[in-house]
Amino acid sequence: MDDLLSAATKARGLGYAPYSRYQVGAAVRSGDGRVWTGANVENVSYGLSLCAERSAIAKMVNDGVTDLAAIAVVTRDGGTPCGMCLQTMLEFSADPSNVKVVCATESGEKQEFMLEELIPHGFRAEL
Ligand code: THU
Repeated sequence: MDDLLSAATKARGLGYAPYSRYQVGAAVRSGDGRVWTGANVENVSYGLSLCAERSAIAKMVNDGVTDLAAIAVVTRDGGTPCGMCLQTMLEFSADPSNVKVVCATESGEKQEFMLEELIPHGFRAEL
């Protein structure tokens, strides 16, 4: 996970967060080992702000890849992903008990979860 954490740390520096001053960096790994990064992008219309996790996942999906294997998220306090991001991770996780989510600070404190622990009863439907 160290490579994923350093990619997320680097991405965090690109976070556009002039309103909250809370930069977030994320890095996702697909089943075949490829990595994409993202950072948060805020807007003066606050509700339009895009989280780092969804930014990274959108890049992965736009490259035609839909199998999420792991994600690292770096913030100043090691915060865990919001509900909207967890539901987005779930969309691309065939087995949420096998998708690793690591939340860390830049100084290396970290917590590791499986996606299933963070969103045990997320929305799944046959539409
Ligand atoms: N943010 C993320 O990037 N990911 C999350 O999972 C939660 C929050 C961002 C949104 C906003 O730019 C800032 O953190 C403060 O809420």
